[in-house]
Amino acid sequence: MKVNEYNYPEMKKKITVLPGDGVGPEVVEQGVKVMNAVNNVFEHQFDLKTYDFGAISIDRHGIPLTDETLENCLKSDAVFLGAIGDPKYDNDPAFPVRPEQGLLKLRKSLQLFSNIRPITTYELLKNISPLKNELLKEVNFVIYRELTGGIYFGEKKISEDKSTASDLCEYSENEISRIAYQAFEAAANRRNKLTLIDKANVLETSRLWRRVIQDISKEYPSIKVDYLFVDNAAMQVMLNPGQFDVILTENMFGDIISDLASVITGSLGMLPSSSVGNKVALFEPIHGSYPQAKGLDIANPMATILSVAMMYEYFGLFREAEMIKNGVKWALNNGIITKDLSNGEEPNTCSKVGDMVAWFIEEKGSVNIKQESTKLSLNCII
Ligand code: IPM
Ligand code: MG
Repeated sequence: MKVNEYNYPEMKKKITVLPGDGVGPEVVEQGVKVMNAVNNVFEHQFDLKTYDFGAISIDRHGIPLTDETLENCLKSDAVFLGAIGDPKYDNDPAFPVRPEQGLLKLRKSLQLFSNIRPITTYELLKNISPLKNELLKEVNFVIYRELTGGIYFGEKKISEDKSTASDLCEYSENEISRIAYQAFEAAANRRNKLTLIDKANVLETSRLWRRVIQDISKEYPSIKVDYLFVDNAAMQVMLNPGQFDVILTENMFGDIISDLASVITGSLGMLPSSSVGNKVALFEPIHGSYPQAKGLDIANPMATILSVAMMYEYFGLFREAEMIKNGVKWALNNGIITKDLSNGEEPNTCSKVGDMVAWFIEEKGSVNIKQESTKLSLNCII
């Protein structure tokens, strides 16, 4: 078996790339640059195939997720997604097809029941967070959001005269326990704390979640479990984000709480995610398609690049993931940042940030540019 200079086998992986809509293709391009750089250095072979998904797929094929795209996702080891959504499909509730339907179908078909969203703060970005600096100390938590059940996927009804509608929220023990075990394992490898967010004072499904979590917690005596109602949790995430380690929650609450938590970092452009299930995993930035910035090369590619790091972690390639994360930190420390992160400094473009992180990796981190000469170096190198 071929081994690389780091003395472990080269990996061959099939990746389906879904750039999607808006700034999706631009940020995905940077992620691919980074992947290529890592694979050059560590001698892995990733076979990347790109397919239409989202609004672009509706425009070209009439539906957001074609059978061809789905089949290729199912056959791959991982899916790498940019973002989907286009305002032309957002504002008309009567529109028969929407990009989001493709995303929900993809999640369900790949059985991606666990959506993992780490919330990390960076020293350098503390000044752009709307939260006071003292609240940002020690903020490092991860949200485990259930992704293929609950109100998103329950039966939907609208009365014939269209005056009454309902969405059913349903959960089974099995749907709860399979993600719960992942969250408990994560807590055991972190700071041994798990917070279940629910609405058990009102909802039957939430009471089921509590019961299942209480049962599983007996298998993890060293993990401190606490329970928060979602309304209080929303307040706590803003008032005292440092208290959280692993948050576990159902689909809809997870959607809302994770957007709220993303505010802490200072920019949605910094937050990666992974969605895992039984087989294929999916990696994507948590931000949307940001249609206003499409084609302008100004979007922040860091969330996408960090999603690539999560992909390597998922494959068990931790040194590779570490190298990517170091590249991101190095770029931040050297002012190689896009507009959303700039505090008055001249921002860099999306593609330049991608080039620089890829360069850092190609050079195995032995790069040394001083803050003052950053712009000069950027121009020389690229
Ligand atoms: C997310 C998004 C999706 C969701 C939308 C686009 C359907 O907001 O991934 O958080 O609600 O799950
Ligand atoms: Mg969301």
